Amino acid sequence: MSAAALALRGAATGERWTLAGGHVLHLRPLAPGDAAAEQVFFNGLSLDSRVLRFHFGLRELSPSLLKLLTEVDQRLHRAWVLVLPGPEGAIVADARFVADPARTGAAEFALAVADAWQGRGLGRRLMAHLITEARRQGLRELSGDVLADNRRMLALLRDLGVRLLGHPDGPQLIRAEMTLN
Ligand SMILES: CC(C)(COP(=O)(O)OP(=O)(O)OC[C@H]1O[C@@H](n2cnc3c(N)ncnc32)[C@H](O)[C@@H]1OP(=O)(O)O)[C@@H](O)C(=O)NCCC(=O)NCCS
Repeated sequence: MSAAALALRGAATGERWTLAGGHVLHLRPLAPGDAAAEQVFFNGLSLDSRVLRFHFGLRELSPSLLKLLTEVDQRLHRAWVLVLPGPEGAIVADARFVADPARTGAAEFALAVADAWQGRGLGRRLMAHLITEARRQGLRELSGDVLADNRRMLALLRDLGVRLLGHPDGPQLIRAEMTLN
């Protein structure tokens, strides 16, 4: 099997992540059966984390937002979940990018890590994963809007070489852009 085919197979089946301290997590593409676990994951985020992720303070996911987040085609909208081992497989993080219909080759990213798992390097690793996958898919640009007070997200984006720019909608937002080659 060619290296490219192997890489694609890896992207489809997922990978094991071993963390400092010995925790093992499984990164895999979001699957159609994940809706209930996704609802638990997003509703379990603290209000602060939900504001940082969605830019507004929703108390819980509406059925339509849940549908939007879980009915993904894994082509124009690609999503991964990081899950605990075992049959329950609770979701501890979610990362995705969605093709921008107005700009061929461009996509918008978003990610969230459960509060209890933040600050352990998962966000950085997930963002690097999104960049790798976007590049592998042949996208030219990956971008996202980040709240200006999201210091952790901005720090990791800066470290990964993502451009942080002013946003046309105002100083409360930062436009993060990365050109892929
Ligand atoms: C933003 C988020 C994805 C980052 O994930 P994470 O796993 O917590 O981040 P990491 O552990 O990878 O840390 C990334 C960097 O943030 C910085 N950081 C860590 N803890 C921090 C803190 N308490 N305050 C400020 N910066 C901090 C560090 O620079 C760290 O890099 P390091 O590895 O050199 O220490 C996660 O905190 C989250 O889900 N937040 C809520 C939702 C959200 O903001 N999503 C992004 C929307 S665009």
